[in-house]
Amino acid sequence: MKLLVINGPNLNMLGVREPDIYGRTTYPQLVEKIKTWGAEAGFETEVYQSNHEGDLVDKIQSAYGKVDGIIINPAAYTHTSVAILDALKTVSIPSVEIHISNVREREDFRQISYAGMACFHTVMGEGIDGYHTAIEVLRQKLTQDT
Ligand code: DQA
Repeated sequence: MKLLVINGPNLNMLGVREPDIYGRTTYPQLVEKIKTWGAEAGFETEVYQSNHEGDLVDKIQSAYGKVDGIIINPAAYTHTSVAILDALKTVSIPSVEIHISNVREREDFRQISYAGMACFHTVMGEGIDGYHTAIEVLRQKLTQDT
């Protein structure tokens, strides 16, 4: 099974960025953990990060026909990007939305998630361990469906 994990803007600054909200784990450390958790769940895992909306759309499109599942943290684009929502709907690959923080308890402008509308499940507020949960949720979905 092939898994694509997509991280949006500023997540490359994990460990530096607002550690009270996002923790002290660095982005390279997160990537290592995701690859380990993915392998344990039986996935061949690619982890992609970009600060650019169009690049995220291109990456989602490139997964068409090649990837079994997507885990996506669109970061700030969660709350603004119809283009990312449309890309996820276009490829129609089972997708899980993940947020490190609990966006439901944050500012009003974070209360809408466009990408989440194309995802069958959302994980939030579990810190970086949420990626582990998301991998497990996706594994269960893919092994049930096949
Ligand atoms: C985030 C939450 C978003 O609101 C924010 O813009 C981010 C990170 C999270 O993982 O908690 O960049 O997606």
